[in-house]
Amino acid sequence: MSGFQLTVNGVVRRVDDALAGESLLYVLRERLGLPGAKNACEQGECGSCSVLLDGELVCACLELGAAAADCEVVTVEGLAPAASEPADGLLTDVQRAMVEAGGVQCGFCTPGFVVAIHQLLAREADPAPLQVREALAGNLCRCTGYGRIVDAIERVVVDRRVPLPANGRSEDSLS
Ligand code: FES
Ligand code: FES
Repeated sequence: MSGFQLTVNGVVRRVDDALAGESLLYVLRERLGLPGAKNACEQGECGSCSVLLDGELVCACLELGAAAADCEVVTVEGLAPAASEPADGLLTDVQRAMVEAGGVQCGFCTPGFVVAIHQLLAREADPAPLQVREALAGNLCRCTGYGRIVDAIERVVVDRRVPLPANGRSEDSLS
């Protein structure tokens, strides 16, 4: 098939020589060199490949790459804060909280969770427990038992409520 363009993480990328049936996940990983979205089940069951497509959380393994040509795609790579912003090693606050709360073990599911959590907190700054459960329902983790991932979300919610001091983050927000 002829090539197409994808807008990924704010950058227009050209995709040439792709086959018509290639999934968005395959295009991102194998054509564009963006390995953040993971391929595990490739059946829409595990959420490891979660990305945002025009702001909606989708499983990239279930979307056709060519069908996303007119959409805005955001992968976990696109969530990293700009270098000019305060950040720990250019982690987002969600990524940092996942590390601090122990929500990352083998880490294979983590990019999908991070995308899902960012999307949840963009919709709802202080989600109720049921909203958190619903938001994470499409993401499977074999390691953590989910409690620490939920704890990470709670840390971010609290942290975002408290204005940051000029020289860093509030320690109280982590207690
Ligand atoms: S790899 Fe897409 S949902 Fe599992
Ligand atoms: S941390 Fe290993 S699958 Fe989630």
